[in-house]
Amino acid sequence: MSQPLVLNTVADLRRRLTLWSGARETVALVPTMGALHAGHASLAKAARARADRCIVSIFVNPTQFAANEDFGSYPRSFASDLEQLGLEGVDAVFAPDATQMYPAGFATTISLKGPAEAGLEDKFRPTHFAGVATVVAKLLIQAMPDLAVFGEKDFQQLAVVRRLVRDLDLPVQIQGAPTLREADGLAMSSRNVYLSAEERRTAPLLHRVLSAMATQIASGASADEALAHGREEIEQGGFALDYLDLRDADSLGPVQAGRAARLLVAARIGRTRLIDNIAVSFDRGEET
Ligand code: PAF
Repeated sequence: MSQPLVLNTVADLRRRLTLWSGARETVALVPTMGALHAGHASLAKAARARADRCIVSIFVNPTQFAANEDFGSYPRSFASDLEQLGLEGVDAVFAPDATQMYPAGFATTISLKGPAEAGLEDKFRPTHFAGVATVVAKLLIQAMPDLAVFGEKDFQQLAVVRRLVRDLDLPVQIQGAPTLREADGLAMSSRNVYLSAEERRTAPLLHRVLSAMATQIASGASADEALAHGREEIEQGGFALDYLDLRDADSLGPVQAGRAARLLVAARIGRTRLIDNIAVSFDRGEET
């Protein structure tokens, strides 16, 4: 195993990209905030399978956290992240600091509508997607990859990024990658480390409820009734529910007959906020 190259500046990143493009090598980017787990490793695998070179960016982006959120305590584990990425055969890690990404006088933010205004994450984190979209646009412009891989775990983020890339004509293919789960169904997340032992035992309830609902709705049950029952189960299970809803999988607007749909949930347990989602197929049963 060799450790990935670490590139800390946009200039270093671009020098490396020039070498690779000179050799006609394609490049895939996996944007992350570090604290990597097996879910991130699967994104890197998907990237490596589709391009000659794979870059993982690690940047805990301050602008996507509100003042009351966990920017300060967000887990950071750069040394073990590098080791993990070495095992995945990642070529380079782009790890800029905040002054590289937001130099003095920085004054540009992407303003969003569409899936960023779906009334899901945006309702509870109103400044979040402007921060995400701005940093993702910067990373895509800095790295100019052929492909960028994002996890389906942050499903609204993936929809926002797809819309951003279409609207700004960024020449990059966006690839969604399935959520990786612990053996008991809990979606892998860097924030799972916040869970106490008791909360960790309760946490898989979210996936259990989503799976059962997806099966019920796919086999013809009323979505409204399934949603009402699901909300009750999650709240009785010890969560404070932010939302549980069924949406069109592309626009995140209301479901439309004959189109892919998605169940999405966000709920808080103790000091941890968990999100998850699942595909609902109206004719072929549940997918994950
Ligand atoms: O999903 C994440 O880890 C972040 O939102 C991203 C896409 C790396 C932007 O900071």
